[in-house]
Amino acid sequence: DWTMSAYREQMIEKIRKQVGKGRVLCALSGGVDSAVAAVLIHEAIGDQLTCVFVDHGLMRQNEGDQVVTLFREHFNIPLISVDAADLFIGKLEGVKDPETKRKIIGGLFIDVFDAEAKKIASDGKGAPEFLAQGTLYPDVIESVSFSGGPSVTIKSHHNVGGLPARMNMKLVEPLRELFKDEVRALGRELGLPDSFVGRHPFPGPGLAIRLPGGVTREKLDILRKADAIYLDEIRKAGLYDTIWQAFAVLLPVQTVGVMGDGRTYDSVLALRAVTSVDGMTADFFPYDMNFLGRAATRIINEVKGINRVVYDVTSKPPGTIEWE
Ligand code: XMP
Repeated sequence: DWTMSAYREQMIEKIRKQVGKGRVLCALSGGVDSAVAAVLIHEAIGDQLTCVFVDHGLMRQNEGDQVVTLFREHFNIPLISVDAADLFIGKLEGVKDPETKRKIIGGLFIDVFDAEAKKIASDGKGAPEFLAQGTLYPDVIESVSFSGGPSVTIKSHHNVGGLPARMNMKLVEPLRELFKDEVRALGRELGLPDSFVGRHPFPGPGLAIRLPGGVTREKLDILRKADAIYLDEIRKAGLYDTIWQAFAVLLPVQTVGVMGDGRTYDSVLALRAVTSVDGMTADFFPYDMNFLGRAATRIINEVKGINRVVYDVTSKPPGTIEWE
């Protein structure tokens, strides 16, 4: 007799027992998992919870603002939002290697979060001893081994996984037994809007790992615009909920094109869409060619700096979902 509402009550009890009168810090990533974890914990312990959103400037169009609005206005959960875009983008400038990018972002994230935690600890209400994370069951497995073989690191995942060791905090992980679809069901149960709960997964390092060749403000702007048009077309075609994850990658390759009666020499954009159950394996999404043509035409017409669009037909394995 297992229902989401029973699970919710059970987890609330468990959180209260674990935390007692202690304070909990929660890092919001902008994604569904950390948001559901935060709302659940808030329901359990109220203002013993403090949420921190580190805006690294690598989010999709409007997504950072949406999280802040959701928490402050919809749920009335106090949220500290830190604008760290200059810091992150500055340190990423000129860095091409994917693992180096991931490590820089993960490291900076810890620095910024740590600094906020120290400020919070000095507010007179005591130092937080717990750290909340939206870790899911697949996160637990993927970081341990790959395809049943020996343990190999495919990518250094940036979530808040690096935080506890350095910050000497105890973990609160109420979603550790759940798969993505169950987290979504729990989110709905907790009253999160469908539009938020149904969001595609988004990686911690954000758009930085969708800019092979290096991150600049200009490239981020181009990618953000193209990505927003692509997702708009997906929604209009009624495909958003059928697809596990869709996004654009701006390539460090320029090709020759023709626009009006002039020559262009602009960037190539790759579109990606996959179906998956848990992100551990995935199939490329078999779009109708008319859809791809429509999306490509709009992107090339509306985004200055892109003159060619290609579609990625690689599944996982052998590809990964993200390009870096
Ligand atoms: P890959 O590219 O490894 O991605 O096939 C599998 C899923 O994980 C997401 N992803 C991340 N999520 N931090 C995250 O929180 C990360 O560093 C990270 N890297 C990849 C990816 O978007 C996909 O959903």
